Amino acid sequence: MAEYVKIKLNGNEIELPVIEGTENEKAIDISKLRAETGYITLDDGFGNTGSCKSKITFLDGEKGILRYRGYPIDQLAEKSSFLEVSYLLNHGELPSKTELEKFERTVKEPTLPVEICALLDDFPKTAHPMGVAASAIAALSCFVPRENLDITKIDKDQVLGQLMESISIISARFFRHRQGKKIIGSDPNLSYVQNLYNMMFGEIPSDEVKKALEVLLILHADHEQNCSASAVRVIGSAQSNPYACISGGLCALWGPLHGGANQAVMEMLESIQADGGDYRKALDRAKDKEDPFRLMGFGHRVYKNFDPRAKIIKKATDTVLEQLGVEDPLLDVAKGLEKVALEDPYFVDRKLYPNVDFYSGIIYRALGIPTDMFTVMFAIGRMPGWYAQWRELVDFKGSRIARPRQVYVGENERDYILMENR
Ligand code: SDX
Repeated sequence: MAEYVKIKLNGNEIELPVIEGTENEKAIDISKLRAETGYITLDDGFGNTGSCKSKITFLDGEKGILRYRGYPIDQLAEKSSFLEVSYLLNHGELPSKTELEKFERTVKEPTLPVEICALLDDFPKTAHPMGVAASAIAALSCFVPRENLDITKIDKDQVLGQLMESISIISARFFRHRQGKKIIGSDPNLSYVQNLYNMMFGEIPSDEVKKALEVLLILHADHEQNCSASAVRVIGSAQSNPYACISGGLCALWGPLHGGANQAVMEMLESIQADGGDYRKALDRAKDKEDPFRLMGFGHRVYKNFDPRAKIIKKATDTVLEQLGVEDPLLDVAKGLEKVALEDPYFVDRKLYPNVDFYSGIIYRALGIPTDMFTVMFAIGRMPGWYAQWRELVDFKGSRIARPRQVYVGENERDYILMENR
């Protein structure tokens, strides 16, 4: 029996349908609200508003659950590979051996146009890697055949492969260029993660490093309708090409409240350490409403429990640092900060827990990745997820251009005042 809610407005009563997802989430479908009542809804930050129906990722913020296409994140992190997860997110099923090999070839085939390589070498060495990545991905659209910009004509797997390969080459190339080091090209004989690491550091990663990177990329691969995925969908709803959509996703991820938080966490931990390791001071600042400072890496719009990715990364951090023989005093600062925060009523009452960004930087640092490259690493992981979200949007028959309404609170009508009368 279909479920409805009744709303009484201006003496009229209307019924709005309730839809239920496969995990029993319920939503009131308000598509007809304005036509039938003249009212719209207002939801700052869209915390109560679903933007779409999706089959890609499910998360339960209260229970700390995250699944890609139904597979729990901890199982994928332990048993899968980043390329296999990328295929799963985009095709909905785990690939057969043949399907995975074919997908791997699709990712390895593309090369970066020489003009984009030249563009990368023209960026100032001080440029932020996210600005370089967003610019280069948008610029890529200028070097593909025009039909690749027509979403009704493109080979979606070919473009996915091109974007996954390009973001890794762009990131690694700029990383070495800004250090004045010799550029190392993509090696089709290496796996995706080995190739990324080799292009960055000029060596094949050890099994431990490869596994750590694989896990980090898997954990970052998708996260349903987060800020950057929503940006990709909004841009995609205008039927913009995928290069434009992904470039927009990169710009959204750059923000310190979103993917930029991993860089901000490291900078916060370093400043706490420089300040004598007094993390209670940081805590007091984070609680002070007069102080814009926030405890970076803490809190989440959806998770009101431990972010399952943070749990996996925290566990992996200890293992990776031990395997690499790295002692990082910032890990102790992070653990101390986490302990006091989780015991502090301000954080407990607001259900503020460590999120994916709180520990990830410690591992990236142990792998020799500089702080301002952390968000680019997040983006490399998120690429297949953004693309899967874009693909689901464009494949959905009946998707409409995203065009929210507003409540106008400005001046009422008034007449123009001539300069002499002002
Ligand atoms: C990511 O959405 C996703 O899925 C994102 C992501 C993904 O995989 O795509 O998971 C990746 O972006 C993780 C989040 C990384 N960002 C940070 O770590 C930045 C620090 N966190 C906060 O800025 C904040 O928690 C957000 C941005 C993550 C969430 O913001 P919300 O949901 O708008 O929370 P809010 O501002 O409404 O906070 C509710 C209360 C407020 O206090 P009161 O008004 O109730 O008194 O909690 C407070 C906030 O001031 N609060 C914090 C805090 N986070 C929330 N106070 C201090 N430090 C914090 N980190």
